[in-house]
Amino acid sequence: MTFTLRGMDNMDDKARMAELLNFVKIQVEDEKDKLALMSNISAFIMSSTRNLNWAGFYLLRNGELVLGPFQGLPACTRLTLYKGVCAKAFNDKKITKVDDIHEFAEHIACDSASESELVIPLFRDGKVYGVLDLDSPSKNRFNHLEVETFDKLARLIEKYL
Ligand code: SME
Repeated sequence: MTFTLRGMDNMDDKARMAELLNFVKIQVEDEKDKLALMSNISAFIMSSTRNLNWAGFYLLRNGELVLGPFQGLPACTRLTLYKGVCAKAFNDKKITKVDDIHEFAEHIACDSASESELVIPLFRDGKVYGVLDLDSPSKNRFNHLEVETFDKLARLIEKYL
C-alpha cells in the first residue's frame, strides 16, 4: 500500500482533515502491527495538519505514560499521571484542549515552541490505555474541526493499537 499525502498545500483544513481520516481508515485495515500503525498515524497527522510542532502517542506502562511513536523534536520519555495535560486527559477520560499552555499551571514543556495542546485519550474496554498528544506553536490552534476530527480518529484507531 502506498500513500500520497503530498499535494495538500492547496487544500483547506476541512479537506485536509477528511484526507487524514481516509488515510487512517485505509491504514488500519491494511496493517495490523501496532508499532507500524502508530508510526504512520503520527506521520499522517504531522503531514496533513497545519501548524503542529509535535504529534504522537504516550502509552500506559506500569503507572506512567511512556513515549510511543511520534513526529517532532525528542520529547519527555515518561510522564507522571499526576501532572500535565496528558495526565489530565488520561484521568478525566476526556479530550483536553489547552488554548494557551502558559495558562495551564501544570503543563509539562517538552518543546519550548509549544503554545497550545490537544490531548485525546484512547480507550480499550472502557479504560484509558494511552493518549494521542498534539502540540502547536500557535495559541488557540485547535478549533471544533480538529477536536471533532481527532476524536473520530481516536475512535477509529483505538481498537487496533
Ligand atoms: N505537554 C505534555 C507533555 C508531552 S509533550 O507535549 C510532547 C503534558 O503537559 O502532558
